[in-house]
Amino acid sequence: MYIFNQGKYKSLHAQSAGELDQIRQQVLSDKQFRPTYHLAADTGLLNDPNGLIFDGKNYHIFYQWFPYDAIHGMKHWQHLITENFQQFTYADPLIPDQHFESHGCYSGGAILWQDNIIAFYTGNTRNQENQRIPYQNIAIFTQDGKLLEKRCLLSQVPEGYTEHVRDPKPFITAEGKICFILGAQRKNGTGTALLYEMPNIDSSPQLLGELSLTHFDNQHVFMWECPDLFQLADKSIFIWSPQGKVRETHRFQNNYHATYAVGKLHNMTFHSEHIEELDYGFDFYAPQTVYQSEGILYGWVGLPDLTYPTDHYQWHSMLSLPRQLTLKQNRLYQRPIAQIYTQLGVSQVFSIQQPQIIAGLDTAYLMFEPDNQDFEMAFFNNNAEHRLIISYRNGLFSLDRTQTKQTEIMQAFGTQRHCEISQLNKVEIFFDRSVIEIFLNDGEKVMTSRFFIEQRENQITCSRPIRVSVAQLPAISIT
Ligand code: FRU
Repeated sequence: MYIFNQGKYKSLHAQSAGELDQIRQQVLSDKQFRPTYHLAADTGLLNDPNGLIFDGKNYHIFYQWFPYDAIHGMKHWQHLITENFQQFTYADPLIPDQHFESHGCYSGGAILWQDNIIAFYTGNTRNQENQRIPYQNIAIFTQDGKLLEKRCLLSQVPEGYTEHVRDPKPFITAEGKICFILGAQRKNGTGTALLYEMPNIDSSPQLLGELSLTHFDNQHVFMWECPDLFQLADKSIFIWSPQGKVRETHRFQNNYHATYAVGKLHNMTFHSEHIEELDYGFDFYAPQTVYQSEGILYGWVGLPDLTYPTDHYQWHSMLSLPRQLTLKQNRLYQRPIAQIYTQLGVSQVFSIQQPQIIAGLDTAYLMFEPDNQDFEMAFFNNNAEHRLIISYRNGLFSLDRTQTKQTEIMQAFGTQRHCEISQLNKVEIFFDRSVIEIFLNDGEKVMTSRFFIEQRENQITCSRPIRVSVAQLPAISIT
């Protein structure tokens, strides 16, 4: 075991006595924005969900984690186990302590193999010249969350690709072979994904080649991160996070994007029948599905390069709610999983138009039926007249965080997001203090965003009378 400790490349093994406790105090001094029922890092920065797996009894949820600050430093995998998405317990994390992961344990997925959880991940390393060299590794965990061993599978990037080859997501084929898909950048600077195969966990992976994806405009796309390939009903689904798409009026609004393709995988070709972004909000990236869960997905409510006002409290980002994916007419629908709905408290109905205070609004679930009629609804209020606004006009649903606190980088990508939806029947909103997840028409379109309104009043107003049903979600416990 090596104890890495070089600037921001500092592992948990190098922490000094009381160091994390001090950071925790700073995190806890944030009384306004810490979520209550979303998973957030105890200290420091959280990014991609990793190694998501249902082992038959429990769900294992890992995420990218830099424990020491709200910056992208030495990445660990934090590890949580839950049976009911209400009580979570910590299990063994992945701490970089081998040469093949000297600068962080980057993203990846997991499978169950001979009763153990095999987490595939990228070992990020840098040589003396600070050049990046990615390794593809595995970490073996017992189902009760104990780390048994780590191994390096691939220490070289294949010919024709740059140093940006990462994020292995494994799966087991119908023939019982282990496959994994890797995000990659070709030497000509374009993004793609590579498929590898191995007969068992002790053999060395063989490169099968690139996944060829039809009907995707890869122009300007320089990297594919976090690929995920799986079956849902009778279709193949490919989820990935391309970087470099050019902004369009109502699409690809953020700096990077989480996208999906529905189609049929045949040999190495994915014949796409529909391609779309997964989420139209300001902050959603690097989603991953839970292995053996029939389509449960978590995303990172954040994006690379973004800063948030709460970074000052030494915590950054959270995971989305777990979402159930279903297919309807070749479109992916996403809604929080059933367990989230069963946790909802008793609902109360309010007729909203004039400013109305609703206790607990900032940790509430809201549902209303706009009957496909235009409206504008504003949430919260403070001395600076900060409000979060949603509206529906002429088939366009919009989220506006112009009148909220933002960092410069947040503002640089615009302060409104839109999604086209020709018939709007149902709006569901999950507020959790500094995050909003909006589900339209039972998950036909989704918008996920952070928002920051200090010293807020829990107030709603609406441009016309609408009956809104409101219920509370209990806080999760993490021990
Ligand atoms: C996506 C990503 C991955 C990488 C990880 C590092 O957000 O950039 O490609 O493995 O984050 O934290």
